[in-house]
Amino acid sequence: MSITRENWTSRTSFILAAVGSAIGLGNVWRFPYICYENGGGAFLIPYFFALFTCGIPLLMVEFIMGKRARGGAPQAFEAIRPFMSWAGWLACLCAFIIVTYYCSIMAWSWDYIWYSMKLAWGNDAAGFFNQQVLNKTAGPGMLGGIQMPILIGLILTWLAILLILWKGIGSVGKVVLVTVPLPVMCLVILAIRGLTLPGAVDGVIYYLQPDFSKLQDPRVWLAAYGQILFSLSLGQAVLIAYASYLPKDADISNNSFMTGFINCGFSFFAGFAVFSALGFLAYQVGVPVQDVVKSGPDLAFITYPTIISKLPFWAPFFGVVFFLMLLTLGIDSAFALVEGFATPLKDATGIKHTKVIIWLCIIGLAIGILYVTRGGFHWLDIVDKYVSDFGLVTIALAECIVVGWIFGARKFRKEINDTSEVKIGGWWDICIMFITPLILGYILIHSLIKGIVEPYGGYPAWANWVGGWGMIVAAILVSIFLGMKFNRKENK
Ligand code: PHE
Repeated sequence: MSITRENWTSRTSFILAAVGSAIGLGNVWRFPYICYENGGGAFLIPYFFALFTCGIPLLMVEFIMGKRARGGAPQAFEAIRPFMSWAGWLACLCAFIIVTYYCSIMAWSWDYIWYSMKLAWGNDAAGFFNQQVLNKTAGPGMLGGIQMPILIGLILTWLAILLILWKGIGSVGKVVLVTVPLPVMCLVILAIRGLTLPGAVDGVIYYLQPDFSKLQDPRVWLAAYGQILFSLSLGQAVLIAYASYLPKDADISNNSFMTGFINCGFSFFAGFAVFSALGFLAYQVGVPVQDVVKSGPDLAFITYPTIISKLPFWAPFFGVVFFLMLLTLGIDSAFALVEGFATPLKDATGIKHTKVIIWLCIIGLAIGILYVTRGGFHWLDIVDKYVSDFGLVTIALAECIVVGWIFGARKFRKEINDTSEVKIGGWWDICIMFITPLILGYILIHSLIKGIVEPYGGYPAWANWVGGWGMIVAAILVSIFLGMKFNRKENK
């Protein structure tokens, strides 16, 4: 590892980069829906409980792990216990698997910016998305051909990542000055537009009307933990890599609180933009709001375009704003995921940063071609399900065990407090040793059983084996191999 390591040029650039990786598509198409489904306003109680007991404590863990090891996730685990470096490599591989399909979603967004200008979906947004843009095959067994316009979007996305990461962390610090505020501005425009439409209030009432009885359902609490983990980009090597460029005296606790609050505040606000628009749609069509509520790609690429077409004026403008928002929301998560893998690779092999980035971008683009085929959507769906259900949770659990039990929560907390403005107390030990690992362990077992009992999403069992279990097992084996190959201490 080189002795002179690049540093963030300012505290702001580090926080913005961390926030940029956290704020992504999930804040817009996942949080509002989960909130609505799990008790509306009442969901904020488990959500904030999860933020304080799991999100913020784990942000602190990842920040200090990266800072003290001055290396990516594998080096950070290795610095605690050499035999644990595989967990770090697993985090990197998960990040890389995610970014290969995350970029294809961004590819759709490029295309939709173009389609918005002419409202190309006409009055059948669902047919346009499924049959024209994706031209979906019947199932994962048939790939069909490549969808050219999506391939072009994919190439544009990887080119952007290459250019941004090329010069290292210094240029990331500058790029996030644009890619973080820009989607926020877009969201403000969309929220103002949404809230001034007829029917908006009904939508917002749906979003937030509290149903306290839901709090007795353990699934609601699990949903809150799952969402916090995913939303803060925890367990994916990203934040550890970013923190490895922090100067020695950098603050940890305050930066963690800020990252957590900004991300969750953004999610909460996004709910107003989304649900006001859904309220408007329900009003226009003359159905109750629950009939139009959607999440994920259906929300962004079918429901939202339908809403845009119904706007009284400047419809193409709001369409462009919406898809520009998706694109800029996604790009800083995407390059963070690549950097999460690039940093430890460069540290472990000594290969120059630029070279590592070029190779990762080429390989990422090549794998991504699978997702821009006509059958690609099915694979995206399967892979996403398994990585986010098992990958992130396993790694976050490993972090809790390594830090809380093997290294010692108390000793670790002292390291955090040594350079932090806000000193944290014994509550942190309890979260890292007991609350979070117990809940994550429960989530993991629950998903394992569910995954074994029924193949996901009605796809054939073989596709679940290839894109799900097979991929997870392969990732674990490769991580163990990488851990053995690049173990610094033992190789010396
Ligand atoms: N946190 C991002 C979101 O909420 C998704 C993401 C996951 C980004 C993992 C980077 C790493 O959309």
